[in-house]
Formats: sequence, C-alpha cells, structure tokens
Amino acid sequence: MARIVVIGAGVMGIGICKHFLRNGCQVALVDPSPVALKKAKENTKQDGKEALCVRVPSDLRKEWSAADVVFEAVPEVLSIKRSVLSTIEECFGETTIIASNTSGLKTTDMTEGMHHPERFVITHFFNPADLIPAVEIVPGPATTEQVVAQVIRLLERTGKKAARLQADIPGFIANRLQHALLRECFYLIEKGVADAETIDLVTRYALGVRLALIGPMLQRDLNGLDTHLNIARYLYADLDRRETAPDALVDMVAAGHLGRKSGQGFFKWDATQNGRLEEIEALLPEVIALADRAQATEEE
Ligand SMILES: NC(=O)c1ccc[n+]([C@@H]2O[C@H](COP(=O)([O-])OP(=O)(O)OC[C@H]3O[C@@H](n4cnc5c(N)ncnc54)[C@H](O)[C@@H]3O)[C@@H](O)[C@H]2O)c1
Repeated sequence: MARIVVIGAGVMGIGICKHFLRNGCQVALVDPSPVALKKAKENTKQDGKEALCVRVPSDLRKEWSAADVVFEAVPEVLSIKRSVLSTIEECFGETTIIASNTSGLKTTDMTEGMHHPERFVITHFFNPADLIPAVEIVPGPATTEQVVAQVIRLLERTGKKAARLQADIPGFIANRLQHALLRECFYLIEKGVADAETIDLVTRYALGVRLALIGPMLQRDLNGLDTHLNIARYLYADLDRRETAPDALVDMVAAGHLGRKSGQGFFKWDATQNGRLEEIEALLPEVIALADRAQATEEE
C-alpha cells in the first residue's frame, strides 16, 4: 500500500488526499493552519478511512520519512514553494519522490536550491482532484526516468490518466489552452460582441459537448484540415494578441469580484446559485463516464 503525504490542505490538497484514500493508500495531510486542517479532516473521510492530519512534517512518526511520494499543494508563490521543498528534503528520505501541484511554474525555478532535484517532478492535478482523471506530468531537466515512471505508475494504478509533457513550459498544456480561450472571451466582451452568458452558451453547446468525447486535434481531422487552414488564414490576424492581463479582469479583482468565493464574479453567487452549481458538479462523474466510453470505442 503506497504511503502518500500531501502538504497543503486547501482546495487541491483535500482533493488529492481524497483520491489516494479512495484508492487504498495511506495518506498524511500537513498544513500549518488549524482551520484548514479541521476542514480537511471533515472533508477527506473516505469509506471510513481518513488521513493523518498534522501541522508540520516533523510531527509525522518516523515511518513516514520513507513515504513513496510527497505532493506539495501550497499556494502558487515561488518563495513558499521553495521553502516547503527545502523542508520536504530535510524530513523525508532520499527514495521519496517530491511532486508539485503547481499550476504552471517552471521546474528549474522551483528546484533551485534543492539538494536532490533528480527526485522532483510536477504532477498537475485538476480541480476537483479526486474526480478529474487527467494529471499533467512535467519532469525537470534533472528528474530521473525512474522517478517519472514510478509516479506515472502510481497515478495510473489509482485510475488517473497521466499526460507526460516533453518540455518544461509555463502553464503546461491545459492552462495554456484555457488562457488562450479566456483571452479571447475577454476580447469578445470588451468589443461588445457578446456577454458572458452568450459566450458560455456557445462554448458549452458547440465546443463543450464535443470536447469530452473528441479532443480538438481529432475533431479537426473530422472537419478537414484544408477547411481549418482556410479559416486560419483570415482569422488569426483578427484574434486577440494582448500580452498583459485584460484591464477588465484587473478591475474585477480589485473590486473584490473574485467569483463564487466572494459572491460576485461574471455572475452573482447567492445561496440559490451555489445550490444549483453543487447539483451541476454532481453530474461530473457521468460526463467522465461518457468520455471513457468514447475513448474505449476509439480504441476498439
Ligand atoms: N485551485 C485550483 O483550481 C487549482 C488547480 C490546479 C492546481 N492548483 C495549484 O495547487 C496549489 C494549491 O492551490 P489551492 O487552490 O489548493 O490553494 P489553497 O489556498 O486552497 O490551499 C493552500 C493551502 O496551503 C497551506 N499552506 C500555506 N503555507 C503552507 C506551508 N508552508 N506548509 C504547508 N501548507 C501551507 C494553506 O494553509 C492552505 O490550506 C497551487 O500551486 C495552485 O496553483 C490549483
């Protein structure tokens, strides 16, 4: 049974912890915040199994120093990540793999100062981490093939779909795609082409319904690459190419409009809207089951 340590009991740490508990691993969760730990303890229980919750890694008993993998899921601030990586190196043995859930920091920036960067690898889970199947794997230049293979084996054995990147690039695959899409969404709103609701409608009912079943590359093959080229030739010059975050986004954040967590974002988040979204999120396993069926059919 794999022994897993998760550092950081926030949104992602809780999801990663639930995933490994559900798949029969022994899990310890570390967070200096008593409030975060209390919430995590309540939220991570899986079929009677629960994570060992502690404030600092040195609170773990000696046997945990030989944990198979330590996943860090602390805030996306390089200085915090580096300090946590240094503590992990001190507290865990040399065979323990050190994995980071960064959303897009470069491996070389994160491993600067590490004594053993060869056992470091990025494993980027998606929220909710216990449900979304894909995990992006980004080895650094020093990471050994053995570490990459071991972490992929653990993820696949516990039901995840590991996607290994061949180069260290900020944002990896998913966040690059997501931000390209969102840059264009902000542009369409700024130009008065459509409001947020209309953009969501088209994205969900035109692109979204297909994307769970057929990826964009396969879909282009279905459409015809000659047609794609004809469109690309006149459209690219018209797409948004700004290099800084949209003013509208900066203004919304400055006004405290952070989305669900603050009660207001593009949409208003009252109790009714929150309740609706919980119902919608509960549909996620059905969408994943459909994606699995499509994949199985494709492989037949
Ligand atoms: N939220 C998402 O949708 C999402 C998705 C993918 C990846 N990520 C990445 O996952 C990481 C965590 O994000 P999150 O959304 O879970 O953040 P979060 O703010 O919800 O949780 C971070 C947790 O880390 C704890 N923490 C702070 N300093 C610590 C330390 N020194 N040692 C241990 N714990 C410490 C905090 O108390 C908090 O509980 C980030 O790198 C983020 O970019 C987030």
